[in-house]
Amino acid sequence: MSYRKTGIFHDYSNRKDLGRFKVTKLEIDKYVFKVPMLRNVTLTGPYFHDGEVGTLAEAVDQMAYLQLNRKLKDEEIRNILSFLTTLAGEDKPLHR
Ligand code: HEM
Repeated sequence: MSYRKTGIFHDYSNRKDLGRFKVTKLEIDKYVFKVPMLRNVTLTGPYFHDGEVGTLAEAVDQMAYLQLNRKLKDEEIRNILSFLTTLAGEDKPLHR
């Protein structure tokens, strides 16, 4: 589990929530949020801390742009969605 800044290359649309800064009061924690696990991510929308993004395709598109400064082609988004779909499964207990 990790905390990362949203909006590394470009700002996230909603700037109201200052994220982890509210807890630590450290400047460096502004717009830092917990990176959620992507297990079952196809089933857990809407996405991001404010649920602002309704579809996973849009979330992937935004991640690439905001975090990596990449504009993905539709085909690339489709391929990433195919991969993310494989992360869905039934929960099984680790121990009996
Ligand atoms: C193409 C590469 C990436 C993909 C496909 C991707 C995918 C996603 C998705 C689907 C979510 C939403 C999860 C949810 O709300 O349940 C998410 C959230 C997040 N990701 Fe990424 N991500 C990518 C790159 C990155 C990078 C490079 C960073 C940081 C350096 C990052 C940091 C985060 C953070 C902090 C969140 C939580 C944001 C919030 O709640 O507002 N991601 N990511």
